[in-house]
Amino acid sequence: MRLSRYFLPVLKEDPKEAQIVSHRLMLRAGMVKQQTAGIYSWLPLGYKVLRRIEQIVHQEMQRAGHIPLLMPTLQPAELWKESGRYDAYGEEMLRVTDRNKRDLLYGPTNEEMITDIFRSGVNSYKDLPLTLYHIQWKFRDERRPRFGVMRGREFLMKDSYNFDLTKEDALHAYNRHLVAYLRTYERMGLQAIPMRADGGPIGGDYTHEFLVLAETGESEVFYDSEITDLSFGDRQIDYDDVGQCQAVLEEFTSRYARTDETHDQDVFDKVPEERRRSARGIEVGQLFYFGTKYSEPMGATVVGPDGAKVPVHMGSHGIGVSRLLGAIIEASHDDKGIVWPEGVTPFHVGIANLKQGDASTDSACEALYTELKARGLDPLYDDRNERAGAKFATMDLIGLPWRITVGPRGLADNKVELTSRRTGESQEMSPKDAVARLVQIYEPILAANAV
Ligand SMILES: Nc1ncnc2c1ncn2[C@@H]1O[C@H](COP(=O)(O)OP(=O)(O)O)[C@@H](O)[C@H]1O
Ligand SMILES: [Mg+2]
Repeated sequence: MRLSRYFLPVLKEDPKEAQIVSHRLMLRAGMVKQQTAGIYSWLPLGYKVLRRIEQIVHQEMQRAGHIPLLMPTLQPAELWKESGRYDAYGEEMLRVTDRNKRDLLYGPTNEEMITDIFRSGVNSYKDLPLTLYHIQWKFRDERRPRFGVMRGREFLMKDSYNFDLTKEDALHAYNRHLVAYLRTYERMGLQAIPMRADGGPIGGDYTHEFLVLAETGESEVFYDSEITDLSFGDRQIDYDDVGQCQAVLEEFTSRYARTDETHDQDVFDKVPEERRRSARGIEVGQLFYFGTKYSEPMGATVVGPDGAKVPVHMGSHGIGVSRLLGAIIEASHDDKGIVWPEGVTPFHVGIANLKQGDASTDSACEALYTELKARGLDPLYDDRNERAGAKFATMDLIGLPWRITVGPRGLADNKVELTSRRTGESQEMSPKDAVARLVQIYEPILAANAV
């Protein structure tokens, strides 16, 4: 992309309505525009990051053997009457009536609809295990939409639903999700810690929330500091292997890590004092096994091996796709702007031409631009007639992890400058070496995307 042809409405001033840094930076970087409380347009730069995040979520879900589909945003009220949640959901549910006076609702979640899809398509235990998921917009009429995309009313969520013959199988599906989530968040440059959560009225131990530590987080969390030393890394895992997935669950959930809803001071006090931490966190995902809560009332049964009909064991597992943009920015920014992790950056590298209109810098930038694209990278070429300072400020604000600076003096020596957004360090090298270095940096990221 050439910046002169792009649509990047950056703001010079800090928007007054933004209380937290991620919201402020998303508005300043021209990523989103609020249309009304908690409802946003995704401008080109924000949309690009949203799509990258979505792509990672899709890839890791499918790697775990889960199957994508797409359910509509509008749902008939009847389904929710079957489960008993139509009245229970209250004012958070946006209810709509169509021209034929049929009651519809904008889905806040999809347990009922997916259960309906399952019961009309599956009859035998032989078709299990099955996990279906989608990434779709949800609407919850939050009392206090705030912090930009972090707590919106309309927001994008990945929600998966597992259907299994037994509780044991359903817990394996739970564990597969846990592993997939660890990989997903790490690819986004995030550390998200699974913490024991509150099962609500259904209760049970089988729910974890994934939290990103951040001062602006809405949840209060308590944890054993050892947990922040864990990382999943690039280990290979067989998602069909029950023991392997269970071992990962045990590794990542055996230390104390709970939100305020499940916090137990007596248990916490058993953690050595120097390792006890309390902090704030952003919930970026949740796992939840709830057994036959929906399959029973809605008649989602299968014929088991012994010929008897049994309701299936289910769970639902969410990732806050649009919220993740805010969470990543909260975790990765400085006073100049966003610092995107390579895995989600909207452009892999910015090219800053210090002397637009100069034959030598123009042709060197064009050559870099073409070569980077040929190597599978996605560069943003700042070809505007602007001062160097303005070009640097824009790239720093929008958070591109790498910048190639091309000026006439360096070029005379066949040198450009490669600068890391994160460390601020610059290195002089030939344009050819700069391309080679970037290809090397992004190779693991492009390889992961190719799967
Ligand atoms: N209002 C919202 N705005 C943006 N993201 C949200 C919102 N509500 C929930 N999410 C995201 O969707 C994920 C799954 O939703 P869920 O667990 O059902 O939400 P909650 O715990 O808020 O009831 C959450 O972990 C969170 O990341
Ligand atoms: Mg939740």
